[in-house]
Amino acid sequence: MEQIKPPHKYIILSYGCQGNISDSEQMAAKLLQAGYEQVYQLENADLIILNTCCVRESAEQKIYGKIGELKKLKQLNPDLIIGITGCLAQKDKENLFRKAPHIDFVTGTFVVHQILAHIQQVLETRERVLAVQELTDDFNHVIPVAADGQVSAWVPIMYGCNNFCTYCIVPYVRGRERSRAQNDIIRDIQVLVQKGVKEVTLLGQNVNSYGKDRQDDIDFADLLNSTDEIEGIERIRYMTSHPRDMNAEVIEAIRSGKKLCEHFHLPIQSGSDTILKEMNRGYTTDYYRRLIDEVRQKLPHASVTTDIIVGFPGETAGLFEETLDFINEMRFDAAYTFVYSPRSGTPAAQMPNQVPLAERKERLQQLMNLQNQISLAINETFTGKNLEVLVEGPSKNDAAYWTGRTRTNKIVIWKKGDQEEPGQLLNVKIDKAQTWLLKGQLCI
Ligand code: 5AD
Ligand code: SF4
Repeated sequence: MEQIKPPHKYIILSYGCQGNISDSEQMAAKLLQAGYEQVYQLENADLIILNTCCVRESAEQKIYGKIGELKKLKQLNPDLIIGITGCLAQKDKENLFRKAPHIDFVTGTFVVHQILAHIQQVLETRERVLAVQELTDDFNHVIPVAADGQVSAWVPIMYGCNNFCTYCIVPYVRGRERSRAQNDIIRDIQVLVQKGVKEVTLLGQNVNSYGKDRQDDIDFADLLNSTDEIEGIERIRYMTSHPRDMNAEVIEAIRSGKKLCEHFHLPIQSGSDTILKEMNRGYTTDYYRRLIDEVRQKLPHASVTTDIIVGFPGETAGLFEETLDFINEMRFDAAYTFVYSPRSGTPAAQMPNQVPLAERKERLQQLMNLQNQISLAINETFTGKNLEVLVEGPSKNDAAYWTGRTRTNKIVIWKKGDQEEPGQLLNVKIDKAQTWLLKGQLCI
């Protein structure tokens, strides 16, 4: 039988959240260990992996569009292996083969670490491989990954989500909460420090629930306190937390910690109590207000950011106004705003009173206009001030400028001087504020 040439040049296109980016890094590390080489153009690859997201329909459409584009490449190079991994793979399973017969393997979220075996199976059988299942994993496969010179790295601390917010597909595609052992997380961070990493972000769909599924009686605040002790790391962040599970111990850990950054990302999702209830968020605006008051009282310089969905089923013009009012009151540093996207299989997709798309989009625009004004006004308060940044490297848009972040996660850019190196902590004097970033000059 004619043999397919084994692939050796790979490219991974990653969609979606940081959890997915981290999974892509884990897959890439496995491929590199097995002797693969990374390429940067689809045309040069003989293994293409799309690590996918399905949180909103727009993500899905974009990915299906990309899968369609790959058909031509497969026609030009029949040895090309195409794999779909991640959340859309977990959700659409064998339907992906039906929609796109040029796909070779589909690997779900629970088994991304077995990617080499799936490729091997394609090579051996020359048949499509469907590897979508729900396994209880032991996490031994998770490894610390950072390329040479990388300043910031992701460290997964838990997987899955138990919340079942009524709009959200995540619990269906990523399963129940599973936390890694504290010792493994600490060891990973120590390895990353040795590789030169200065900043880690502890990752999970709902980090405040860390440890609840384990017997060792270590909760998220305990984990934060332990990571703060690790020598050589400059900054520790985490994503994403649920307001309901945020508590005084976590706020105190951040207040008293040396490395824990003063940034709170607390997705409110809606400023209407009626809608929050329908979303099954488990808190009220009043609870959230008190939580933010506590954060700001204990850490006056902390930044607070949020996520908001507009046009959830049943959101009347009046209820949307409540969100606008709440945003005005909370004055978030930044908000990630989304048009509600019905996800089949979630309770909200079945709810009556779906809001027409045109109206949802109009509300998004209104909300963004308001938030942009607030973000800009907050950023303007930094002009004339010196801010400490962790240097990341050249700015994507203009290599004459370099970029870094403050502890509060604000992006700062400045004209490159002679001395900056990625990973340094430097002071920048801010002279111009924009909605999403601050510009300044290096203090020498
Ligand atoms: N439609 C729109 N936005 C959504 N999000 C999650 N599910 C949906 C959906 N069905 C948003 C939430 C979440 C962020 C990552 O994505 O705001 O916090
Ligand atoms: Fe997208 Fe959610 Fe999966 Fe992240 S967990 S990739 S946001 S569907």
